[in-house]
Amino acid sequence: MPGVLHGKNIVLGVTGSIACYKALDLASKLVQAGALVNTIMSYGATRFVTPLAFRSITHRPVVTETFDPDSELSVEHVALAESADIVVVAPATAHFIAKMAAGLADDPLTTTILATRAPMMVAPAMDAHMYDNPATQENLSKLKDRGVLIVGPAIGRLASGLVGMGRLVETPELVGNISALLGRKGDLAGYTVVVSAGGTQEPVDPVRVITNRSSGKMGYAVAEVARDRGARVVLVTAPTSLADPVAVEVVKVGTALEMRDAVKDSVAGADALIMAAAVADYMPVSPASQKVKKDSDTWSIGLGKTPDILEESRGRFIKVGFAAESEDLLENARGKVLRKSLDLIVANDITAEGSGFGTDTNKVVLVDRDGGVEDLPLMSKHEVAHRILDRVRQLL
Ligand code: C5P
Repeated sequence: MPGVLHGKNIVLGVTGSIACYKALDLASKLVQAGALVNTIMSYGATRFVTPLAFRSITHRPVVTETFDPDSELSVEHVALAESADIVVVAPATAHFIAKMAAGLADDPLTTTILATRAPMMVAPAMDAHMYDNPATQENLSKLKDRGVLIVGPAIGRLASGLVGMGRLVETPELVGNISALLGRKGDLAGYTVVVSAGGTQEPVDPVRVITNRSSGKMGYAVAEVARDRGARVVLVTAPTSLADPVAVEVVKVGTALEMRDAVKDSVAGADALIMAAAVADYMPVSPASQKVKKDSDTWSIGLGKTPDILEESRGRFIKVGFAAESEDLLENARGKVLRKSLDLIVANDITAEGSGFGTDTNKVVLVDRDGGVEDLPLMSKHEVAHRILDRVRQLL
């Protein structure tokens, strides 16, 4: 299943900031995700980056003038405004934000913005003092009140050499927010989905832990896809090397016990719990309070069972578990559906090629409480996430 950006008509407004070069990367990522990107540049933007650069990346004409006699479109700004699924301005300068707040229409971008009914997102980039200025703050508040999504700016080193608030946020954060905004009326709108991810870490002493090979990729994919289909998403995650998904509530935990508490808190009032985390089955019974010295040749660690979070979680929500198996896949999966009273289990054979820990793909079998088996081919973890959420949607 294609992602939420696929086939979407995105108007990308680019205004005159040194951060314009980052908008090229944004355009590229949107095009790679299957979006149609129509760029509108302010005069200032064309001084930093050429329209040809955007044209080359988007394979579409770039608009720089309101009344272009060579344009194929009769009234360009109106045509773009009407066909847009979303209008994104990145980077947005203080001057542009002021014009937008005042409702001016003196260039193709502001004109398109006045004429469109599409959702809008603005990512400011400017000097920290310009951002702090009450005029800019007031203008941003006005835009927010009108329903415009403001993303950033971030704190960091600015073009002036100063460190402060004013950097354009990075591309993944822009793409994540665009996806969430486009997906807000998706088939999971109005539902809350709690997802767990990552491998828990059980301390042995203050420096050592017992953990597993889970990368967190499957759970993060479920969280992102649920967000892109309109759900409110809470991601309870054990440590991973992945960036926090944007527009998702992220709760960070370390141990199985911490995950149990966080899941318990999050699941109250939720519509679905999808436990993709690799929760440790055993934890050290009495972790040492000081670092254990390597004085003896062997070291035995007493382990006790962790609580089974899924089994314990009860309520009016749909329960989905995962089963990573290296033998007797279906039999084990069926046993877990019953034992943990699940609606669905996602079973994967971790010995299969391209499947399981750390990979970007997964080969899974979905087993439901009635014994129904859906054997899916090898696919990306994002596609697997869609299939799982299709089933959850049917059950809701
Ligand atoms: O029994 P097993 O560990 O194979 O079950 C895996 C499923 O149970 C996963 O969904 C995992 O997140 C969940 N689990 C849990 N609490 C545990 C162990 C596993 O919720 N202590």
